[in-house]
Amino acid sequence: MVLYESRRGFTLMVAQAIRDEIREAGRQATCAAFGTVDAGTYAASDALIVGTWIEGMIVIKVRPADAAMAGIEALPDLEGRPTAVFCTFDVSPSDALERMANALRTRGARPVPVRGEFKRRKKLEAVPAFVDRVLPAFEDALAEATG
Ligand SMILES: Cc1cc2nc3c(=O)[nH]c(=O)nc-3n(C[C@H](O)[C@H](O)[C@H](O)COP(=O)(O)O)c2cc1C
Repeated sequence: MVLYESRRGFTLMVAQAIRDEIREAGRQATCAAFGTVDAGTYAASDALIVGTWIEGMIVIKVRPADAAMAGIEALPDLEGRPTAVFCTFDVSPSDALERMANALRTRGARPVPVRGEFKRRKKLEAVPAFVDRVLPAFEDALAEATG
């Protein structure tokens, strides 16, 4: 499941491109905005990819969008699900993805060490490489979890 917070649509575009790339790799994937997913749908997904736009004043107060952090706070217990994070930004994401991964950890997620940083003008060209790193990281995490 690809979960996203988007204000003007670019993060949504990246989320959909990630979903499509995962499907092309022969796996099931769906994407949804924060707040539109019920607990049963989380329970049915093996792994999560969580994305946000970056909110701030370019050099100060740069952070994951407040709405994304609120969305993470409201998540059900993720029960150890492997989770990758990504963001879209114009200038610099600073340490936003680390903060988002830490917030997800408090919701029971198990962040994998794969981060996707998509700069707006570079468009979607970095999506395949991100998915190429995410899928093996999820497989490793799931194999470890089931022994
Ligand atoms: C209010 C606001 C604050 C922003 N602050 C930053 C920032 O501090 N650093 C940055 O790199 N991009 C910043 N951006 C740019 C967005 O993160 C970027 O355009 C993102 O791709 C938008 O995603 P969306 O189209 O899904 O809303 C800001 C955008 C808005 C609207």
